[in-house]
Amino acid sequence: MAEANTLGQTKMPLVGLGTWKIDKPVVADVVQQAIKAGYRHFDCACDYGNESEVGDGLQKAISSGDVSREDLWITSKLWNTYHAPEHVRPALERTLADLKQDYLDLYLIHFPIATKFVPFEDRYPPEWFFDPSVTEPKLEPVDVPIRETWEAMEELHRSGLVKNIGICNFGCSLIRDLLSYASIRPSFLQIELHPRLTQEKLLRYCRQESIEVTSFSPLGAESYYSIGMAKEDESTLANSVIGKIAAAHGKTSAQVHLRWGIQRGTSVVPKTSQPQRLVENLDVFDFELTDDEMNQISCLNQHRRFNDPGDFCEGAFNTFFPIYE
Ligand SMILES: NC(=O)c1ccc[n+]([C@@H]2O[C@H](COP(=O)([O-])OP(=O)(O)OC[C@H]3O[C@@H](n4cnc5c(N)ncnc54)[C@H](OP(=O)(O)O)[C@@H]3O)[C@@H](O)[C@H]2O)c1
Repeated sequence: MAEANTLGQTKMPLVGLGTWKIDKPVVADVVQQAIKAGYRHFDCACDYGNESEVGDGLQKAISSGDVSREDLWITSKLWNTYHAPEHVRPALERTLADLKQDYLDLYLIHFPIATKFVPFEDRYPPEWFFDPSVTEPKLEPVDVPIRETWEAMEELHRSGLVKNIGICNFGCSLIRDLLSYASIRPSFLQIELHPRLTQEKLLRYCRQESIEVTSFSPLGAESYYSIGMAKEDESTLANSVIGKIAAAHGKTSAQVHLRWGIQRGTSVVPKTSQPQRLVENLDVFDFELTDDEMNQISCLNQHRRFNDPGDFCEGAFNTFFPIYE
């Protein structure tokens, strides 16, 4: 991928492959196909439950000479159960072993949520419940200040095991607080961003603080139908404003979503397991949206957050757990 297709001062390629919900039996092949198609950035997480298979795909692509490790950008995320400082390094080491890597380009705190530790040998990935076998399993929050987790993340950076450290799903106030004590500042924030959730102020604040932003769920509602967190009439892929813009450029609606994300100064990590969509989602560097088109898309904002623990934790995990309000 050309150098111009990377983010700001970092070498993060602007389009990465999201790996959440890519099924284990296919993900190694998808990763190899993605690398052949030109992907150099992979967005992973312990919680996705497929890091070992993602790692198989990465290892095969590297050993077959399709790509070298230095040309890849690999991101992973610290899960909620591992926030206590003594668990941060073992969690990273488990992720590195699964991904078959010596280092990560970026390690992110997945959520500003600390839950009770579950040993690897009891359950991996531990997901949201402390004990799913009880009659009414719940989330079990623990009192670990983010500062302690962040200081352990800084140690990982100092050790050279991770090139960058960052955060996900933080708002301005949490970031401001973190910056007040961080001796290594977060280089990235990963947040939900799409035409229904534009988060202009958070984006502007990150720009002001020189924190790069990655947009997750950049195609909006698509990812959330199958898990009951969005309705199909919330799709912006089918939106007529975006459809007209797409037709004017000879592009698909998905490509316009991704291009809009990139022109807002963010990287985007669309997930797909379909070979033709892998190619489509990367083919967003030969057109430019006008200011007016950018504006028309941003005007679709409804502050609609699909991935909100304040909503899904109650239905899925028997625990009311708001974090954004
Ligand atoms: N940090 C966090 O808390 C967090 C939260 C959520 C997601 N993420 C990351 O962000 C990545 C992307 O987000 P996401 O997976 O939620 O959603 P997404 O990438 O916006 O959308 C994925 C959905 O869109 C479909 N799709 C992909 N390309 C398409 C195209 N060209 N045309 C039409 N449909 C298309 C996919 O189906 P097919 O697979 O069938 O193509 C899938 O259903 C995740 O995989 C994960 O790595 C991070």
